Amino acid sequence: MTTIPNTPGIGLRLAHLAEMVATRPAAGWLEVHPENFLANPHAAELLAELSAQYPISVHTVGISVGSATGIDRMHLKRIRELVNQIKPIFVSGHLAWSTYGAEYLNDLLPLPYNEETLQIVSAHVNEVQDTLGLPYLIENPASYVGFHSSTMQETEFLRRLVQHAGCRLLLDVSNVVVSAHNMGFDAHQYMDDFPAAAVVEMHLGGFTPEEDEATPGAEIWIDTHAAAIAERSWDLYEYTLRRWGAKPTLIEWDNELPSLATLLGEAGHAQRIAVAIGREAVHAKAR
Ligand SMILES: [Fe+2]
Repeated sequence: MTTIPNTPGIGLRLAHLAEMVATRPAAGWLEVHPENFLANPHAAELLAELSAQYPISVHTVGISVGSATGIDRMHLKRIRELVNQIKPIFVSGHLAWSTYGAEYLNDLLPLPYNEETLQIVSAHVNEVQDTLGLPYLIENPASYVGFHSSTMQETEFLRRLVQHAGCRLLLDVSNVVVSAHNMGFDAHQYMDDFPAAAVVEMHLGGFTPEEDEATPGAEIWIDTHAAAIAERSWDLYEYTLRRWGAKPTLIEWDNELPSLATLLGEAGHAQRIAVAIGREAVHAKAR
């Protein structure tokens, strides 16, 4: 069985795949979107090669657990084949919907947090876990809108989803920063309320402030994964590690991709924060 890494990892995109195979830099682990490999046998072969050296996690973008019309079983089975081949340390996806019947909407769309959604998402998470034979990690979304039909907070919804479906959670720290800004809640309070015991992975990614067309003069923050990690995200990451201790952490950067070295530099920054907080904890115990 692969050991869970305590060094931060990086999202591996196709543009860096050949360089990664050729140079084999030190990286704690790699996370891939399986959808990039399903119709690309050469890339899948290179990934299988890398999986002999690096722990790999699989972050799905096409499994729509929030769709009222059900999930695409054919797609899920294709993911199972890749999962069986590379034996990932984690398989994760989003608390969102992105399909309607056979239509793929190419976006992660929001859900109201109520009993009906909980039943739908729980049933689909169960189906994913049964098909893959692995726990599925659900990621908190970056939010831009809320729903009048929501009857509970996101943290409460996730806590109940863990109870219902027996899944685990992926906490995206930058999504909390983005949602807190856009929705006007306190990011630290969100972390205090989050079901920490269920978190087995954390994400850090870049976002982009844009003018909010609905409110002149105001900014909306977009989870673009097209920029360096913002200071606010690093600060919230520190706060969270102080409360919970270290968790496997991954740097996500999908658009306007920087060099592999820059990505690894961001992972190094996360590592320095985790080490410093670990030392603080040891000193505090010794006192
Ligand atoms: Fe994420």
